[in-house]
Amino acid sequence: MSQNDLFAAAPEGEALPAERAAQLREQLNHHAHLYYVLDTPELPDAEYDRLFQALQALEAAHPELLTPDSPTQRVIGRVLDGFTPVRHAVPMLSIRTETDTEASGAVSFDARVRRELGLAESAPPVEYAVELKFDGLAMNLRYEHGLLVQAATRGDGETGEDVTQNIRTIGQIPLRLKGAAPEVLEVRGEVYMRRDDFEALNERQRAKGEKTFVNPRNAAAGAVRQLDPGIARQRPLSFFAYGLGEVRGWALPATHSGMLDALAAMNLPVCKDREVVQGADGLVAFHRAIGERRDALPFDIDGIVYKVNSLALQQRLGFVTREPRWAVAHKYPAQEQMTRLLDIDIQVGRTGKLTPVAKLEPVFVGGTTVSNATLHNEDEARRKDVRVGDTVIVRRAGDVIPEVVGVVLERRPADASAPFDLYQRLGGHCPVCGSGIAREEGEADWRCTAGLFCPAQRKQALLHFASRRAMDIEGFGDEIVSALVDGGLVKTPADLFLLKREQLIGLRLAGGSTLQALSADNLLAALQAARTPALGRFLFALGIRHVGESTAAAIAKFHGSWQAFLDTGRHTPRLIADIGKEVADSIAAFNAEPHNREVVTAMTGPEAQVQPSVLAPCVRVPLKQLLALVKAVDGEEGGRRLKGIGGGTIERLAEACVTPHALLQTPQADATLESARLAFGELLVQPSWAATMAELDRLGNVWDTTPAQPEGQAGVAGLTFVLTGTLPTLSRDAAKALIEAAGGKVSGSVSKKTHYVVAGEEAGSKLDKARELGVTVLDEAGLLALLAG
Ligand code: IVH
Repeated sequence: MSQNDLFAAAPEGEALPAERAAQLREQLNHHAHLYYVLDTPELPDAEYDRLFQALQALEAAHPELLTPDSPTQRVIGRVLDGFTPVRHAVPMLSIRTETDTEASGAVSFDARVRRELGLAESAPPVEYAVELKFDGLAMNLRYEHGLLVQAATRGDGETGEDVTQNIRTIGQIPLRLKGAAPEVLEVRGEVYMRRDDFEALNERQRAKGEKTFVNPRNAAAGAVRQLDPGIARQRPLSFFAYGLGEVRGWALPATHSGMLDALAAMNLPVCKDREVVQGADGLVAFHRAIGERRDALPFDIDGIVYKVNSLALQQRLGFVTREPRWAVAHKYPAQEQMTRLLDIDIQVGRTGKLTPVAKLEPVFVGGTTVSNATLHNEDEARRKDVRVGDTVIVRRAGDVIPEVVGVVLERRPADASAPFDLYQRLGGHCPVCGSGIAREEGEADWRCTAGLFCPAQRKQALLHFASRRAMDIEGFGDEIVSALVDGGLVKTPADLFLLKREQLIGLRLAGGSTLQALSADNLLAALQAARTPALGRFLFALGIRHVGESTAAAIAKFHGSWQAFLDTGRHTPRLIADIGKEVADSIAAFNAEPHNREVVTAMTGPEAQVQPSVLAPCVRVPLKQLLALVKAVDGEEGGRRLKGIGGGTIERLAEACVTPHALLQTPQADATLESARLAFGELLVQPSWAATMAELDRLGNVWDTTPAQPEGQAGVAGLTFVLTGTLPTLSRDAAKALIEAAGGKVSGSVSKKTHYVVAGEEAGSKLDKARELGVTVLDEAGLLALLAG
C-alpha cells in the first residue's frame, strides 16, 4: 500500500477539479480546526502539508477555483472563548515551505532570490542568516519600555490570543529586557517543549493515569492555552526568539543576524545553532550539518530556515500574498507518518516483561524505514485504542525507539479487530516458553513467570550480564548470545565462563556462517579479562529487578562481598540510603530463588573462577535510621506498638544509645524514652529483627557512633546535585562519578532540597527551576573547584 492509498475515500485524479478542491478545503478546514483550535490533531503534519499542497497545486492550475475563504489564503486558527483576542500591530506571517528535502531545495531558493533581486550570474553570492525551524508554536512578546506587557499567540495571523499569564511562567523569557528599553519592541519566536521535559511530563501523566501527549509540540500548545496558569506552570516550556513585530524607538541593526545578536544581548533566548553563510553552497552545508545532528538536538525541529541576511535586501524582496520572498523553510523528512497496523506482536524482555509491539506496513519516518514500533504496555495500547487494521501515527525522533502515538479514528475500517487484550491474545502463555503470564496489582506490565528458564529472558539476561556497564565482556552481542543459547551451550551466565575453545570454533551463527578460530580466541580472552569484576558491576550484572547501577554500587559498599549479599535479609538493604521496600523485596526474592544462588555459586566456583572484588565494610548507619526502619516495617505489617512514637523521641533515644545492643541493655531515666526503648526492644528480639541484627554484627562495625554532624559541614559529602545540559569537558557519567566519589548525591530533578545545579550548554528547564527556587548554579569549573575543596 502506498501513502496515497490512505486517501481511498478521496481519490485524486478521479473527481472533477471543482469537487476535488471543495473536498480538500473541507478536509483542511476540519483538520486545521482539530490542530489549531482543539489541539487534538488526527493527521501528522506531513500529511496535512500534503493536502495543503494538493489544494495549492489545484488552485494554481485552475485559478478560477480560488475562493477568498480557501485555507490557502489565510493562516487558520480561531480565537478560543477563554482568552482575550489581541489584534497584532504587525500581522504574523508564515513562510513558504520548500518540500524538496534534498540539497536541491536550497539551491532553488538561492536561484529564486538572485532572480528576484536581478543579480547577474557573475554577481557575488547572497549572504544568508540560517537557523533552525523550531517545532512549537509562534508567539509575539510585546515589550514596552523594556517591560513584558503582553504575550499573544499567532491565531489567524491578524488576531491572536492573550496568553501573557502562561507565558510569564516560562523562566527563560525575561520580564524586563537587559540594557535597552525601546518604546515598543515586539519579539517573535517559538514556544516549544524540550524532549526531556516532554518525556518527564508524559511520565508524570502516566503515573497519574492521565492522558499522555502525542508530541512535544502538542504538549506545548496545550500548556500555552491552559486557562489555569497553575497547570501551565507544571508543563515546562522553552522559547527561542527569531524575529520582530512592531518596533518603535529602536534603531534596527543592518542584518537579521545582527538583530538576533542584539536580542540575545537583551537576555532573550536565541538559539546558538545559527550561522551566517554565503550563497547556495553555504545553505547546502548548513542543511547537511543540521540534518546529521537533528536527532541529537534536545528539542524537535521540522526543518531549517534560510533568511536573506541584509534587512535592506529583505525590504527590496518584499512579500507575495502573506509570505516573505526573502525567507524559506527547508524541511527534513518528517518524524511522524501514518501507516497501517498489520498486527500486534508480543516481545519478552530480560525480566520477562511482555511488550506489545506494533507490526507496521513499512514507512519512511525520521530517516529510516520503520516496520516495528513499541506500544509500551497493555494500558497504553488500550488508552490509545489501537486495533489491528487501524491507520496509526508512528513517530521516530532522536534515537528513541519508534512508537505508535495515536490512531486516526476516522480511518478505522469496519473489520478492525477488537480492543487489544494481551492476556487473551497470548491465551495466558508466554509466546517463547509457554509458561504462565501474570500481572501484579498496580503494575502496568504483564510478565512471563518462568524467569531464566524462558529462553527469551535467558538471552536478554545474558546480554545484560555481558553489557558494557555490567561485566563488560567484549564480543558477546546479540548474534553470539543467540547462537550460544539456541545451540544449548549456555543457559546461565556461569556457563559462559565454562566455554571451551573447541565448542566455540564452528559455532553456527544466524545467516549460516560459523565462528572462526580467531573470533573464538577473542571471546575467550574477553571472558578471561572479565573474571575479576568490581563487586558493584557484578551485582548489577545479575539483573535483579529494580537494582540499577547506582543501587548495585551502594549494596557493594554496604555488604562488601557477594557472599554477604546472598545472605542478606529482608530488612537489611533498607538501611542503605535510597533503597525502599520495593527494591529490598526484589533482592529478597532473588536471593530466595535457589536457582539464582546456584548460578552465583557456580560462577564463583573453582571451574568458572569469577572473583568479584571484596570491599572492606565502610558504611556507617546511625541508630536513628534503624529505629525509623523498624517503625516503618511495623506499620507496613499492621503493627501498632510503635505508632505513638514520634521522630523526636526516636532521635533522642538513638542519641542516648548509639547501638542496638546498648539500646537493649541501657534503661533510660526519662519515662518517654524508656517506654519507647522497651517497645523497640521487644521487636528487636523477635526472629526477623534478631536475624537482621546478627547479620549486621557479621558485617561488623556498622553503627555510626560519631555525634550528629553540625550544620554547615565542610565538603560535598551529603549534598545533592542535579546535572543539566552538556558540560565542556566532563561527560555526565564522569561528573556523576566525581560527585559520588566525594560523597555527594546526584538526583534527576531540582527541588528545594537540591544544594547545587551544575549547568552546561543547552541547559533546559532544570536551570530555570533552579533559578526559580534560588538554588546555587555552578558551571563545570565551579563544580571542580567545589570538589577540590
Ligand atoms: S520566521 C515572516 N524563523 O514556522 C517570517 N519562523 O511559517 C516569520 N518557525 O509558525 C517566521 N522556527 O512560528 C521563522 N527560525 C524560525 C522559525 C519559524 C519556527 C515557525 C513560525 C511559524 C512558521 C513559519
